[in-house]
Amino acid sequence: MLGKKNLKKKRIAVLTGGGDCPGLNMVIKTVSQYAMNKYGWEVVGVKNALNGLLNEIKFDGPDADLIEFSPAFSFAEYVRQGGTFLGSFRKIKTKRFKDVNTDEQLVEVMLPLFKKHIKELNIDGLIATGGDGTMFMLNFLCEKVKIPFVGIPKTIDNDTPGTEISVGFSSAVDACVNALDSIFWTAKGHRRAIVTQVMGRNTGHLAMHAGVASCADIILVPEIPYTLNGILKKVKAIKNIEKRDYFMIVVAEGCGLEKGQPLPKNATYTVADYIAKALDKEHIEARSDNLGYLQRGGLPNGYDRMLASELAVLAVDLMADGQSAVMAGMKDGKPAKIPLKNVCKKETRKLDLNSAIVKTALKMGIYIGDIKVKK
Ligand code: F6P
Repeated sequence: MLGKKNLKKKRIAVLTGGGDCPGLNMVIKTVSQYAMNKYGWEVVGVKNALNGLLNEIKFDGPDADLIEFSPAFSFAEYVRQGGTFLGSFRKIKTKRFKDVNTDEQLVEVMLPLFKKHIKELNIDGLIATGGDGTMFMLNFLCEKVKIPFVGIPKTIDNDTPGTEISVGFSSAVDACVNALDSIFWTAKGHRRAIVTQVMGRNTGHLAMHAGVASCADIILVPEIPYTLNGILKKVKAIKNIEKRDYFMIVVAEGCGLEKGQPLPKNATYTVADYIAKALDKEHIEARSDNLGYLQRGGLPNGYDRMLASELAVLAVDLMADGQSAVMAGMKDGKPAKIPLKNVCKKETRKLDLNSAIVKTALKMGIYIGDIKVKK
């Protein structure tokens, strides 16, 4: 029965936090089934990120805050779906947090509620997938109540420090490439430049990978300053050499204006709008587009399903081994234990300017801004 601990069994909770991405359901399934089948643990799925543990917990009905998994629970349909069937939130939503403004106040209000519910539900450990912010907050709370925490990185931005790749990134690259392949035909049919904005708040991993894979002419990322003149030069070169008058430009949302200037705070236009407008001024018909949530909400591809399963298995094994404050990430192409001190409160993992993908983009003749890389 929910909350009534079988004293012989360890009982863990699993949740998904932060923005959704493809592959989360595979994480939930593998953590739960592997923990139950291999170690004989009980597993509780917590709904809506930490929110499921902070308000008055509803145990039954369609809006119950928890799912008590059992070996009979079928994940078969969920793993084939996008999003997260446990739900996720970026923000903590509870009436008690009306006047909370700082992280310290948040912890102060959250901790007693977290403590109370972890105790009531007899939870001995927490495994969660999220970004570095989610992992930091959950690990902090778990340390306070003295239960172990293991994280699994997920983000389509692929910028979690400490891991080479995060769950969701590969599917998002696929989603962008599919969308860009469609946009290509409109660009060609109308003989336009189409400037497509992809996600990547602070980093250009998604733009660079999707741009190379979709054979974009120009790729702009926050890590590399560009000039409007550089863009124009590239467009004119394509016109002269290939006699082509349609162009594909991919830009990460975190890019600023030219020469590394930030986008004005209250700008009512996107970076893609800014570049399209600049091209229009030079008599190159241009439009902007923004791929938005179709990058996040789609189905997980094969790679993300494999990655999610491998990291979930490692996360459970780490917890079984008595580890805490660690993340199951990827290092040198293999699942590896990464201490959370190398992940949380660290600088976002930027696109490495000497990486193969950046060098390849340059060697393909794509304009990616003003950059010098080692040979
Ligand atoms: O998941 C990361 C991200 O995709 C960022 O690139 C983007 O800025 C953000 O999510 C937007 O998400 P939301 O609208 O859910 O806050």
